[in-house]
Amino acid sequence: MKIAIGSDHVAVEMKQQIIEYLEGKNYLVEDFGPYSSERTDYPIYGMKVAEEVSNNNFDCGILICGTGVGISITANKVQGIRAVVCSEPYSAKLSKEHNNTNILAFGARVVGIELAKMIVDEWLNAKFEGGRHLNRINMIE
Ligand code: RB5
Repeated sequence: MKIAIGSDHVAVEMKQQIIEYLEGKNYLVEDFGPYSSERTDYPIYGMKVAEEVSNNNFDCGILICGTGVGISITANKVQGIRAVVCSEPYSAKLSKEHNNTNILAFGARVVGIELAKMIVDEWLNAKFEGGRHLNRINMIE
């Protein structure tokens, strides 16, 4: 599975920890920046990752900013993107099973690294259930 990942300056360190965690589980991860903690703007990276996922260059995306809010709002502007911001694993799992989310976002100022890993695991391991949920997704589109 190929995962596109991006953040803002606030979340560069957590992003690197998540990349290493996922690579340790043999996921292919590409980092769309930023590559330093110099102040920048989350819409740049939210948009890059969302476009990569929307164009089917990647199976899914992970976005991290201070809260996960701004970067997920950005991603949801891109056609075909269903980005969820989660601070706990239950919503992450259900967001895949019911909403077929293709981008997961969270906040480096909200969750610690171990909780972030749990959220990522639940989301990546969950499967879309289809059926009645597919009708609803089509209604969103
Ligand atoms: C940056 O200060 C902060 O606004 C950003 O990381 C994020 O939390 C926005 O939603």
